[in-house]
Amino acid sequence: MKQKIGLIGFGTVGRGISEILLDKKEYLKEKYGFEFDIVAVADFAYGNVYNPDGLDIPLMLEQAGKKEKFTKDLTNLNTIQLIKDSNVTVWCELTFTDLNTGGPAVDHVKAALSSGKHVVTSNKGPAALLYPEMKALADENGVKFLIEGTVCAGTPVINLADGPLAGCTISKIAGILNGTTNYMLSEMEKGMSYDEVLKIAQDLGYAEADPTGDVEGYDARGKVTILANIVMDAGIKITDVPCQGITNITPDDIDFAKKQGKRWKLIGSVEKKGDKVIASVAPEMVDISHPLAGVMGATNALTFTTDLLGDVTIVGPGAGKIETGFSILTDLLAIHRS
Ligand code: HSE
Repeated sequence: MKQKIGLIGFGTVGRGISEILLDKKEYLKEKYGFEFDIVAVADFAYGNVYNPDGLDIPLMLEQAGKKEKFTKDLTNLNTIQLIKDSNVTVWCELTFTDLNTGGPAVDHVKAALSSGKHVVTSNKGPAALLYPEMKALADENGVKFLIEGTVCAGTPVINLADGPLAGCTISKIAGILNGTTNYMLSEMEKGMSYDEVLKIAQDLGYAEADPTGDVEGYDARGKVTILANIVMDAGIKITDVPCQGITNITPDDIDFAKKQGKRWKLIGSVEKKGDKVIASVAPEMVDISHPLAGVMGATNALTFTTDLLGDVTIVGPGAGKIETGFSILTDLLAIHRS
């Protein structure tokens, strides 16, 4: 079946997945039999567009690249109408994350699932705040709610726990879950100032729209909550997770760690202790010989502690346009294969 894809949000991730789908269209058809059209895009800055037979994505990428509004295939349907009334079979929710309320993404996801359309998303809001509700809605309507891109961009962590590690009991997951702060700590160690390096992280598309979410640890806390609830069925709320970011780490702290043969890392962790699941986010000085100490830049790394394999560590990109775009492709392919 040919999938009709819709994108909500044409920012960094929306453009990333669009570029991937354009570049790999033939490969995806030949290798996996995956055929698709991108038929709808809803974006509050560029406009809502719809063509049931497929949009002119190269033109839209060019226009958005120049910060110009879309001019072709414009529709008067508002985003919720477009979600419900178009021929889209799978919606990609790629708007900005709001970890306080979930933002408009919550209504987008609910509208899509309740109209029998699959949802894949890199938006942490609905996943961190409302995963059980959204999953139940998807199940009721016989569709998927897939969220690989919400944790560690396209580096497969949710799929790793759910797929290859299925059958293992996972007692702990811990590691570097935020690319922006890991990049900042890496560059600050080389002597760059906090403000300078934060600006670069924003320009590179690593940081959230409001980077407070990164530097205060809230982004990592959202991801810890998602992992706790999906992998460990913990049933915890984001506000249950104690959280400290990197805003208080000074050049002196970095020097102090260096002199002791250590390095600062923002560590997110979730651990089963008896009947309880304990989760936290905080900066830690890790020994330079520790595997996480060598993980630099916007790279993420997570160690799964399991009963049958011991520790399994995955290291990979945690942010970025193509890297997060890939997570959407992964979930689109999962839907195609199912
Ligand atoms: N702002 C996030 C990060 C993006 O830096 O890791 C990916 O969730």
